Parts: sequence; C-alpha cells; structure tokens
Amino acid sequence: MKWNRRTAFKGLAAWLGGSSLLGAQQAPKGSAKVYLPPAPGDDPLLDPANVMDFAPLAKAKLDPLAWDYLEGGSEDEISLRDNRDGFNRIIIRPRALTGIQNIDLSLDLFGQKLAYPILLDPAGGKNCMYPDGEVTVARAAANAKALHITNGGIQKVTEGGKGPVWFQITTGGELRSTATMKSLVKRLEDQGCAGICFTTDIMYVSHRERNIHNKFDRSWGEIGIPRDAQGRLPKPRNPERSGVYPERAFPTPTWNSVKELRSLTKLPILLKGILTAEDGARSVECGASGVIVSNHGARQLDHVGGTIEALPEVVQAVNGRIPVLIDGGIRRGTDIIKALALGAKAVCVARPYLSGLAAFGQPGVERVLELLRTELALDMGLAGVGNLASIDRSLVRIRGEQR
Ligand SMILES: Cc1cc2nc3c(=O)[nH]c(=O)nc-3n(C[C@H](O)[C@H](O)[C@H](O)COP(=O)(O)O)c2cc1C
Repeated sequence: MKWNRRTAFKGLAAWLGGSSLLGAQQAPKGSAKVYLPPAPGDDPLLDPANVMDFAPLAKAKLDPLAWDYLEGGSEDEISLRDNRDGFNRIIIRPRALTGIQNIDLSLDLFGQKLAYPILLDPAGGKNCMYPDGEVTVARAAANAKALHITNGGIQKVTEGGKGPVWFQITTGGELRSTATMKSLVKRLEDQGCAGICFTTDIMYVSHRERNIHNKFDRSWGEIGIPRDAQGRLPKPRNPERSGVYPERAFPTPTWNSVKELRSLTKLPILLKGILTAEDGARSVECGASGVIVSNHGARQLDHVGGTIEALPEVVQAVNGRIPVLIDGGIRRGTDIIKALALGAKAVCVARPYLSGLAAFGQPGVERVLELLRTELALDMGLAGVGNLASIDRSLVRIRGEQR
C-alpha cells in the first residue's frame, strides 16, 4: 500500500476509533460514528494557516524567474519592506464587553453591494504563474464574490467570472486622445465592465533588479517562462535592463486626461497610485469616483514609504468626498482593521492571491480570500467591533502617538 499522510491519518483514525483515548471526541449518544475533525494536512489546500503561508508553496512550484517577478519590488526594495513594517507601527485598541454575536463584513462601494472589503488588485504576467491565469482568477473572484480588477482580456473574464469586474488601464494608447478614450469607454461599456481603474504610477518602467539580473523578458509573463526540455532559456528578445535613458513616444497622461475620461463615461473611475494629500484633493476635483493609495506593490518608485503611512494624509485631503482604498503589504485581518480605522473604505491585495494561484490554481485564490476575510471577521470579533461602520480612528493608535 502507498504510505502517505492520508493513509497514515486513516490508520490513526481507525486505531483511535477503537480506543478510549478518543473519549472526549465521541459522537453524541446513539450515533455509532466516531467524530474526528478534519486533520490539517489531509488536504494540502488547508495547510496554510494564513495567506503568507502560500508564498513558500508558490515559490516551490514556480520557475525561479516567475517567482522573482511575482515577489520582487524595485531597486532597493525599501518600500517593499515599508509596506509591511508600516502596519507594525499601528496598535489596535480593542474594546471589551461589546456583546458582539454576528460579524458583518458587508459594504456598499461605488453602488455595488460587496460581501467583504477585500478586492483583487490588477496584476500582469499571471500566465507565468498559472496557465490562463487571468481567467482562473476571474472565476475564483466570482465564486468568492470578490470585486476583481482585471488587467486584460476583459471579454474572456466577463464570460469566465460572474462577479463584478473592473478594468484597469495604464498609459498605453487608451488615454492618448479623445478618439482613443472614446473607443476605450465604448468597448468597456459594451463588455459590461463595472468600472475603470486607472493606474497612475506606471508612466515609466522601473528597475526591478531581480528581473534585470534574471534577464527577464516581460513577454514571458504572458507566454510563460519558455524553458526547453533541458531547462535552458532562449535568448531574451527584450530583457529588462538598466542603463537605458528613459524615453516615451508620447507624453504621459495628465489630470486633464482624467477630466476628459470623466466626461466620456458614467462608469466609476478609480485612480490607483495616489500617495499624497495634493493628489488626493486633485483626484476629487477631476471627478474621480475613488482612489487607491498604492505604491504599485513597491514595484515602481522606491523610497515612497509604506502605503499605510500615506493613507492618513490622503484621507484627510479627500475628506469623505469619495472612497479611499489602499493596497500594499496587506496580509492579515489586523492589517485590514488598521487600514479601515485610518479611513480606508476597503483594501486590495495582489501577491497573496497570486501565490494562491501559483500554488493551487483557482481553489488557491479562493482559499486566500477565505482566509483573509475569516481572519478579518475573527480579529474584528476579538477587537469588539461587529461591523465595518464601527471601525473608526479611535480603534488604533500609532506607536508613540499621545492620546
Ligand atoms: C506580479 C505583479 C504584477 C502587477 N501588475 C500590475 C499591473 O499590471 N497593473 C497595476 O496597476 N498594478 C500591478 N501590480 C501592483 C498591484 O496591483 C498592487 O498595487 C500591489 O501589488 C499590492 O501590493 P501587494 O502585492 O503587497 O498586495 C502588480 C503586482 C504584482 C505583484
């Protein structure tokens, strides 16, 4: 017989079934069955205790180049560390004896009812992590009832997933002229897209030095890492490089582009990559429906600080006029509580679900969302708050802050 964890567990269960050791776990009287809780380890999908546990599993499955692409940040990766460290400078002030029985994570966002305040960020290159990665994630998002910001293949995604889908645009041709904007808007509206997410922080290609050392060709994110049977890579046609003077064929979009886009569609427009009070205020003036405080997962300009550090100034400048969301380093239910307490309406994540995708495909993405939202609910219960509206600034203190 093949001896693995499953058979070992079955053997143990059978032995315990006839043993008085199991006294405390006997089924109710009258039932012949012995109750055993599902053993951790029986289904590898259930092994990760938190979303960070997916990272080593993903790393073990992925080509090392794909892992570096997924995990890496830009230059010194200082902002990458700051994204996590920022959360550790915030302390939760739990409330005792609040009599919470049910914990409600639901919210209204841009006219949609969401089951919980966790969205899937746009992420390119999913095909080097899992075959047909974008559609796989869309299906997972639909099953998990999460809002998914796709970064391409919208038609396939709306067919694949039934959840609310937003489309992400960057600086490509879409915002270059009134004509290109009009055709973009028409295409998205025709395809049933629920909103537009405009990523503002990717006007130039940053130095992701892990990719530069790996001679990574961005096209491999779309086609997968093209190793031959001997594990050799072809000569990259357009590897990421340093020492190239930054140039663009067309000017980068401006606030006027946002205003014009606003005038062309009724779809909500979310500006992603806002890090300052000035840009938060400007976003409102130009008609944005919301902003995401984001440093692109620390993959663009380095040394911009952790996003949780930037959140308070953006929230203050926006002053409740539009929802403020945040991403970057969110891995825990407590991170989400801290972000909401500092004024975010919802959070977005990328690397956690990408690791889930790489490790297990669609069920991995769904499990990551399940772990995050159940951890959030548990941490809210432990903090004595029963719904999102009850999370306010008084629930946290920044280390060193006087009260
Ligand atoms: C592999 C990868 C690819 C990404 N691609 C995009 C992209 O195409 N467009 C974009 O706006 N952001 C992109 N991002 C940034 C994420 O949308 C998000 O801002 C960030 O990763 C959130 O931080 P987290 O990964 O710590 O959760 C990417 C992030 C990763 C990790």
